[in-house]
Amino acid sequence: MKFAVIGSPISHSLSPLMHNANFKSLKLNHEYEAINIPVEQFDHIKDIIKDKEIDGFNITIPHKERIIPYLDEIDEQSKTVGAVNTVLIKDNKWIGFNTDGIGYVTGLRQVYPDIANAYILILGAGGASKGIANELAKFVKPKLTVANRTMSRFDSWQLNVNPISLKTAEEHLDEFDIIINTTPAGMAGNEECIIDLTNLSSETLVSDIVYIPYKTPILTKAELLGNPIYNGLDMFVYQGAESFKIWTGHNADVQEMKHTVLTQLRGEC
Ligand code: ATR
Repeated sequence: MKFAVIGSPISHSLSPLMHNANFKSLKLNHEYEAINIPVEQFDHIKDIIKDKEIDGFNITIPHKERIIPYLDEIDEQSKTVGAVNTVLIKDNKWIGFNTDGIGYVTGLRQVYPDIANAYILILGAGGASKGIANELAKFVKPKLTVANRTMSRFDSWQLNVNPISLKTAEEHLDEFDIIINTTPAGMAGNEECIIDLTNLSSETLVSDIVYIPYKTPILTKAELLGNPIYNGLDMFVYQGAESFKIWTGHNADVQEMKHTVLTQLRGEC
């Protein structure tokens, strides 16, 4: 079978390396490639996928919303989030899924087993935040709190959360067991720490969905304070594993996938 990731730019994507490592480990004769489709050529996507005989694909920045009009069906999670990262082609039908939220939460449950009782603060209220909040709300008992710079972002939220400002979040930081940064503040080239951590309690797990850099400014600061930290590498691995399951029905070798990505990241440092 043939799979791909579609984005623009896409040459730095670690998805081909990660998925091909999984295929090799499972002794599957599948292939996974990166396809660059610039925005102005996106209307050719159906022909490109057909010509290359692709069976399923991931879709990434900047096309996660742009793909939606091309789909025949879309799952509940993608509808809620308003974005798709996985497309299954079945009987010539294109079906959209979003595995980012479940990818993050699958990993988080392993590092924080009592997640059902955790008081959780999510920073940011965009697509990534919505996907994670939607997954967490399925089993976390305390109501989720979401902090954002722009309060009007919450107008499009259907999920019942406590919406607060970043300033209020800073003042009440000590009330949370887990803090998850879903904003791009702190990504490579951006040194900004999204909130002041003065009120952080010592046990709180501080997390970021970014993994390049491996430690974003919020994680570096939290670690210096002695707090446990958790980055977005597992989210990347598990979203890929979930996509693989959607395409093939099989469980991926997540250990091999993670090991391969980590080795590559270490080599690049
Ligand atoms: P994604 O799909 O990755 O979540 P998005 O939907 O564009 O991307 O959402 C980005 C989120 O990061 C938003 O919550 C945005 O805040 P605003 O709604 O106020 O724009 C937040 N964000 C981005 N850059 C930020 C920054 N420098 N400081 C604080 N929040 C930021």
